Amino acid sequence: MPITRSDFSGPGDLRAMQAMCSRVWSPHSRFHAGQLAWNRYAQPVDPARPGSGEAISLWWADGQVVGFAWAESADWLELQIDAARPDVAEEVAEDVIAWFEDWSDAPRQTVHVMVDDPSETALVAAGFRAERDAWHFTHHVLSLSALPALPALPALPRVAGYTLRPVRSDETAERAAVHRSAWSDIGAAELTTGAYEQLRRAWPYRPELDWVVANETGELVASVIVWLDGTTGVALVEPVGCVPAERGRGLARAVTVAALHRARELGAHTALVTTGGEADDPGPRRLYETIGFRPVARTVTWTRSLD
Ligand SMILES: CC(C)(COP(=O)(O)OP(=O)(O)OC[C@H]1O[C@@H](n2cnc3c(N)ncnc32)[C@H](O)[C@@H]1OP(=O)(O)O)[C@@H](O)C(=O)NCCC(=O)NCCS
Repeated sequence: MPITRSDFSGPGDLRAMQAMCSRVWSPHSRFHAGQLAWNRYAQPVDPARPGSGEAISLWWADGQVVGFAWAESADWLELQIDAARPDVAEEVAEDVIAWFEDWSDAPRQTVHVMVDDPSETALVAAGFRAERDAWHFTHHVLSLSALPALPALPALPRVAGYTLRPVRSDETAERAAVHRSAWSDIGAAELTTGAYEQLRRAWPYRPELDWVVANETGELVASVIVWLDGTTGVALVEPVGCVPAERGRGLARAVTVAALHRARELGAHTALVTTGGEADDPGPRRLYETIGFRPVARTVTWTRSLD
């Protein structure tokens, strides 16, 4: 079976990568299609090419993507290989690692994959070692048949005067700003208004699954995007945030539950969320636990040093 490789060349390639993610999705898959859209468009980016310091490459067989590599930087590689194609998985994995080796000039390299990932043999052969205690992502799922009821407002936010609703198309600046404000105490969020407007054009974004909380004065104070992959019926929560001054009032939980109710009405049966770095910040994990999410799978960090 001939396998070919191509450099990332625009939205069509992202869509082909997402199609692979949809085709092979399970709770143990590294990426949900919506995660790729978020990762790509959460900052200003030229849709036609990788961002600065990034490289993305696709491997193809039978007209489909069977693997991709997304080097977020010279020392950090994300990848996913089509687990449903054992006939090509090993060869693709070896090619992905060799491609990263060629492209990266970092003396210490990190590859981030799921536990028992099809790339493990290739990683070991290339000299990477698994660091199971290192920082990792955990995937959590929730059957939407068990989604908590949505109590009537104002009981739910514990403080009267908040409104939960989908974002309006005329408030893109405010929507991008509430995201940046929610992340302001963690690090620089780069979701400019222009980036957010570009994100809204990416599949599988749906405005009816992009929810906000407005306070009494109409200011947006919390938000969530749910990405519904209609092929799988799996709805990814990414991201959820609440501005620092309004935390601890149940707003992030309320807006997430509200958006997931809408996703269920639109055909979702399962919700997915990924947390990382829990030891540093238990908040997100606690938030998702209170909604009913349970951990099902995790990533492993593999490293090698070329010193
Ligand atoms: C995490 C975050 C969204 C929580 O927002 P919030 O509106 O304060 O959360 P809620 O009030 O809805 O809390 C829901 C539950 O999580 C718990 N929780 C929230 N933040 C917590 C924290 N930092 N530590 C421990 N528990 C926390 C709450 O106590 C509550 O549980 P309870 O009902 O048992 O008391 C907010 O802190 C934030 O925006 N952080 C930065 C962005 C981020 O990390 N987003 C999540 C990853 S995408």
